[in-house]
Amino acid sequence: TGLITMDPGYKNTGACESKITFLDGEEGKLMYRGYPIEQLAEKSSFVEVMYLLIKGELPTQSELDKFITDINEYNYVSEDLIKILDAFPSSAHPMGVLTSLTAALSAFNPKVVDVTSPDDMYRAAVTLLGKFPVLASWTQRKIKGLPVNYSNDKLSYVENFYQLLFKKPGQELDLDPVIIDAIDKLLILHADHEQNCSTSSVRLVGSSHAGLFASISGGISALWGPLHGGANQAVLEMLEAIKNDGGDVEKYLAKAKDKNDPFRLMGFGHRVYKNFDPRAKIIKVAADNVLEKLGINDPILDIAKKLEKAALEDEYFKSRNLYPNVDFYSGIIYKALDIPTEMFTVMFAVGRLPGWIAQWMEMRETNQPIGRPRQLYTGAPLRDYVEIEKR
Ligand code: CMC
Repeated sequence: TGLITMDPGYKNTGACESKITFLDGEEGKLMYRGYPIEQLAEKSSFVEVMYLLIKGELPTQSELDKFITDINEYNYVSEDLIKILDAFPSSAHPMGVLTSLTAALSAFNPKVVDVTSPDDMYRAAVTLLGKFPVLASWTQRKIKGLPVNYSNDKLSYVENFYQLLFKKPGQELDLDPVIIDAIDKLLILHADHEQNCSTSSVRLVGSSHAGLFASISGGISALWGPLHGGANQAVLEMLEAIKNDGGDVEKYLAKAKDKNDPFRLMGFGHRVYKNFDPRAKIIKVAADNVLEKLGINDPILDIAKKLEKAALEDEYFKSRNLYPNVDFYSGIIYKALDIPTEMFTVMFAVGRLPGWIAQWMEMRETNQPIGRPRQLYTGAPLRDYVEIEKR
């Protein structure tokens, strides 16, 4: 069988070549297609970043207009999907609902399941980019008890997503530019992060030539976990718990350092970054701005800052290079925007979607072989079957 190199968690295994995202974990640098994340967060828009990730270059105005028109052509979902949505209890976690509805899209759009040509792939991509915010919004409306909502082509991608989430029937919804800009920036910062757990899942599922929607559904499931995208929900729950417990951050630091306590400081540490997560730096400033502009004074932000300061000065965290990651401050912004805590990871998924799609396309275009790791067998040696009455 040949020699097998063991690498649990793929800590040192390169699974593919990629031209999409570069990250330097020692230096804390992140670039999409060569453009630094700081410049994109400041100057670009989410829809432009979607184009950049998927097509490889920043669009001209007419290319961007066509891209938006192509997405808008698909920004609805079949009414039959509402029956599936209705079947979930309102207590269901939105990520569970989202993963199921995304998988169900394969059944409703059979033509985009079997893709081979670049045109087919592009059509699958814009189809999903159009439909995904609708499905994501339905998961929030479900927990809030609101009827489903539909897209408005006159709005930008992010404005439309916002109205999909929040507009009540018959209501004129105010599209506050501070809120729209904050969501746009958060989505840009989450748009891709090379071969992380969910992206690797999308590639692994897709490597069997399963369709785009099924592959993305696998990615959403991977993102849900608290060690990955689910950390943003876990961070806010942790900060609330510290607040309700008298705000003693040292007590929680001690718990995080105690190897007999399973508690980890959520929003801290990263597999690749051994320095500040550059996205966390941008989000921290954005959290301050958004709260100030919206006139919100949230004690959670003070606790987050106290906790961050204490951890950065602590020997345990210093010696292990544990810094705040992207999820540490994002939840504070989502909370200020009135997004329910259970929805935070769905917001992450909407941001990550173009990255997943770009990675899936690259995998298919470069004819990646089917993903199939080996193992080291440590089970029972050869033995004979024993009849049930003799066991
Ligand atoms: N709190 C306390 N100790 C930690 C933490 C933490 N958040 N993170 C890592 N450590 C310790 C860990 O116990 C280990 O210590 P020791 O060497 O004494 O055994 C050392 O640091 C190395 O950790 P690891 O678990 O081997 O590192 P990993 O690369 O396997 O895990 C991680 C990376 C992100 C899963 C982990 O840091 C973690 O669980 N963080 C908290 C969850 C979180 O914030 N996840 C979001 C990640 S960023 C965005 C995303 O992916 O969605």
